[in-house]
Amino acid sequence: MPQIFYFSANRTVEATTTETILHASLRSGIPHTHECGGEARCSTCRVVILDGLEHCEARNAKEQSMAERLHFGPEIRLACQTRISGDIKLRRLVLDSDDVLITDQRGAGATPGIAGQEKTVAIMFVDVRGFTTFAEALPAYDVIHALNRIFCSIGPAIARHGGHIDNYMGDGLMALFDAGSAATTAVQAINSGLEMLDAVEKLQPYFHDNYGKALRIGIGVHCGDVVIGSIGAPGTKRTTAIGDAVNRASRIESANKFLVSSFLISDDVYAHVKDIVLASRHEGVRLPGKLGTYTLHEVTGLRQPLDDLQRR
Ligand code: FES
Repeated sequence: MPQIFYFSANRTVEATTTETILHASLRSGIPHTHECGGEARCSTCRVVILDGLEHCEARNAKEQSMAERLHFGPEIRLACQTRISGDIKLRRLVLDSDDVLITDQRGAGATPGIAGQEKTVAIMFVDVRGFTTFAEALPAYDVIHALNRIFCSIGPAIARHGGHIDNYMGDGLMALFDAGSAATTAVQAINSGLEMLDAVEKLQPYFHDNYGKALRIGIGVHCGDVVIGSIGAPGTKRTTAIGDAVNRASRIESANKFLVSSFLISDDVYAHVKDIVLASRHEGVRLPGKLGTYTLHEVTGLRQPLDDLQRR
């Protein structure tokens, strides 16, 4: 008879091939949350299969629907819907009332979100240079208006090239390009960044006339693996990316300050775009909080027209 090993409970129980994992848990006295009673509506019986995924039957329609809604990876299964044909190891994911609050998909407060998905993405950070000093000299209305004017001008360049704004952080933003291969997303981020710099140039007369200041932004792009997930208390969840690649992109953007540049990309991005971009400088730098030296490349333009690149 197939066996289930419960990680953390450190117990092994036998399961018939006709009963679900949830049924085997409850029959054996293992606490296993199942808020909807096994109807595939709450997702609180979710488990991660640590070993033996090949012994789990394929998802049925109800489980598939929930898995798509929450962007479950293949290893996350609903115990109330899954039967097994061989030995598996698993870990229960909903252990107490707080876990239930976070995961229960029934009721108005439930937001589908993304439970956790690994992806290779291009991450872009954009910051308005010197905005703190600039803002100190302006009335509150102008501070907000100027920022909105900037974001209105540069934001479309992100969406137009397949990205989306993940978060605004004061006078900066973080954008993700996550639709496609690393090479595709790197090209998208480059095109987007260059278009942003054009948009900023078009805004210069407005800033000069209204505020007597020049406008400058710094852009940093890195690509790598991140975890995409929905973070926050119920009702306030926001999908974002987490991981070292995100931190690195942020540090690369900050490096614009001491390199006195506007658009820096990492080696990983440069490897995908070196044939299409004009890079005026290649500098080995230390990034705050990171060991070693990183080569950053300053992008100043494209070797061929944007229209050609968009057909790649
Ligand atoms: S018990 Fe609700 S989805 Fe499995």
